[in-house]
Amino acid sequence: MSNVTGTLTPVRELADRAHAAGAVVCLDACQYVPHLATNVVDLGVDFAAFSGHKMLGPTGIGVLWGREELLEAMPPFLGGGGMILNVTLDGFVPADLPAKFEAGTPPIAEIVGLHAAVDYLDRLGMEAVREHEVSLTAYALRTLHDRLGEQLTIHGPSEPAERGGVLSMALDGVHPHDLSQVLDQHAVCVRPGHHCAKPLMKVLGVGATARASFYVYNDTADVDALADALDEAASFFSF
Ligand SMILES: Cc1ncc(COP(=O)(O)O)c(C=O)c1O
Repeated sequence: MSNVTGTLTPVRELADRAHAAGAVVCLDACQYVPHLATNVVDLGVDFAAFSGHKMLGPTGIGVLWGREELLEAMPPFLGGGGMILNVTLDGFVPADLPAKFEAGTPPIAEIVGLHAAVDYLDRLGMEAVREHEVSLTAYALRTLHDRLGEQLTIHGPSEPAERGGVLSMALDGVHPHDLSQVLDQHAVCVRPGHHCAKPLMKVLGVGATARASFYVYNDTADVDALADALDEAASFFSF
């Protein structure tokens, strides 16, 4: 899932094609995992990585999943406590997976926090998380189009089922950083910038976007507040 447009990437198809060309596939699932039920085997990838802080968990922790035979074949990339099976004067034998890659004292507090976040999302149910996001995105696309019309562009798919709940917006004639400042003054927080996706900005023909993101804690009142604030911004910048 794109962190700019919310577009759901056809991961399985891309992975199959990459494998056919002899490549190993590492999926950046930072956006996918918090928003959709994820089965790494069905996705057909070799590695998948995601962050704790994008799924209600703490910062400074994430997950790397990898196919066992690939992880077995890889040497450890960090040395430290807990990753050693045996040490001799002329070498060492690494511990079994996953300890081989977990050198040093682990971030214990962050692990407990991420576990709590996973349990919480599990209790909500990832199907319900996705349903909430699709219906809120549908409401947002409809509301913002009705309220702002053609002066507001929302990048990415127009069909809510084909996307996640990130809305990268462009208000005619207003720089995204200016827009975000005015939205902020109306207590609406969006993220302006290139979102670490400069090549995509080039494809979209913009230098930056102002991005609103919805998750489990948002509801239609937040969408209405965004629409009100966009209205205010449009009149503030009109000349
Ligand atoms: C798709 C994607 N990958 C990677 C990152 C970076 O994650 P982290 O902050 O855990 O390094 C982000 C967000 O910042 C993201 O949206």
